[in-house]
Amino acid sequence: MKKATIHIDKNFTVGEVDKRIYGSFIEHLGRAVYEGIYQPESPFADKQGLRNDVAALVEELNVPVVRYPGGNFVSGYRWEDGVGPKEKRPARPELAWCVIESNQFGLNEFVDWTRKAGTEPMMAVNLGTRGPEDAKNLLEYCNFKKGTYYSDLRIRHGYEEPHNIKLWCLGNEMDGPWQMGHKTAEEYGRTAAETGRIMKMLDPTVELVACGSSNLDMPTFGEWEDKVLSECYDVVDYISLHQYYGNQAGNTPEFLANSVAMDKFIDSVVAICDAVKAKKRKTKNINLSFDEWNVWYHSNEQDKKIEQWCQVPHQLEDVYNMEDALLVASMMITLLRHADRVKIACMAQLVNVIAPIMTSDTGAWRQTIYYPFACISNNGRGTVLNTLVDVPTYESKHGAAPFLDAVSIMNEEAKTLTIFAVNKDLEEEMELFCDLSQFKEYQVKKHVVLTHEDLKAVNTEKDPWNVVPKEDGNATVADGRLQATLCSKSFHMIQLEVEGEN
Ligand code: AHR
Repeated sequence: MKKATIHIDKNFTVGEVDKRIYGSFIEHLGRAVYEGIYQPESPFADKQGLRNDVAALVEELNVPVVRYPGGNFVSGYRWEDGVGPKEKRPARPELAWCVIESNQFGLNEFVDWTRKAGTEPMMAVNLGTRGPEDAKNLLEYCNFKKGTYYSDLRIRHGYEEPHNIKLWCLGNEMDGPWQMGHKTAEEYGRTAAETGRIMKMLDPTVELVACGSSNLDMPTFGEWEDKVLSECYDVVDYISLHQYYGNQAGNTPEFLANSVAMDKFIDSVVAICDAVKAKKRKTKNINLSFDEWNVWYHSNEQDKKIEQWCQVPHQLEDVYNMEDALLVASMMITLLRHADRVKIACMAQLVNVIAPIMTSDTGAWRQTIYYPFACISNNGRGTVLNTLVDVPTYESKHGAAPFLDAVSIMNEEAKTLTIFAVNKDLEEEMELFCDLSQFKEYQVKKHVVLTHEDLKAVNTEKDPWNVVPKEDGNATVADGRLQATLCSKSFHMIQLEVEGEN
């Protein structure tokens, strides 16, 4: 049996968890909007057509921010098509995903939905087929109080109060040749700088995210971030990272080692941000918005068969298994380990499309990846401690991959210490130790375990409770030392508290 020792010191902190790292994403794509969060004919819908069952599951996930409306979709989007009387809204060919967009759901319905689901909107502007002028108009519609063309239009549409949307993405994946209005780094950097400058003239309280590379494998990665930030450093607050992983090769150890790649990706982007900062002799930091991340590959083949120009197809409907849940947990641990610079992150996506929540006409259910997300989002708030993990490693194409990924979070207000950990050993249990001499009065509150003997086990509509977490771990504290057995291929939350405090 392998042994792992976690070393923590309450004085060695990484940073405060920004709750927005537990964000998600809804794009006009497949059945994310239509049949996902909005389905007027559903018995689960409220008067506005918003699904109550889905909103309740989103609330349970505790998602503080949801990015909208894309994704690739936003690069051809005319937001005006989706506001005002529904009978007057035009249907349009949607070129990113080759479907017909009815525009029956738009900006105002989305804002209403965020309020219902206990979250906040993170809007993206179209810098593909459009530019600064339309971004300004959209911001005016959303955030300007009254007395101007677009703010009064919003009021006429029934929204007296401004939406006050604080977080804005300046386009989406503009380095990608697949993107409508794809740009070179110089072109995009200038557009982002001017769009951002105009947006901040109109509303100086907004925060702006510039597009980084679409993923680490883009041939322009690095150079793109450098050139874009060289143009728009003063105006923007964050740069985006996107990354999806898959187990096409059927090699689980390699698949689970992708958290090592994610870790290096974050380090690289931080290094580039800081290099531009140094070159420009700035004091301000650019922080990271990892606003698309997940596992995505199960649906690739099936999606090739979708007929073009249909409406609301079953697109990107990955059915997630146990090993996907392990990687999702590891990716979240990786984000937390970079809490000093990663301030926003969005699991892509939220409902039906590469999503933790699935729906049918008869209900909604939780995929395997729902559980680590919900557990970490609900419990991972506080100060991240620098968590050194002494554990054997295995060789992977990304370098040495530790058999245990872990992070610890101290919450002084709640008087809790929470450890999230993934045991990537597929065969054996692991013995975990942690010296708690600085946390003398702490005792185990709960030890939650997510595991399944079959790494390919899934949750489906017919069998929705196949992979679920259990509060049956054996963590104990004795003589100021934590000890626990971590079963093979498993995710754990060990939460400690000062007895009698919670
Ligand atoms: O999330 C699915 C797609 O992945 C998004 O539209 C795009 O931004 C990314 O390539």
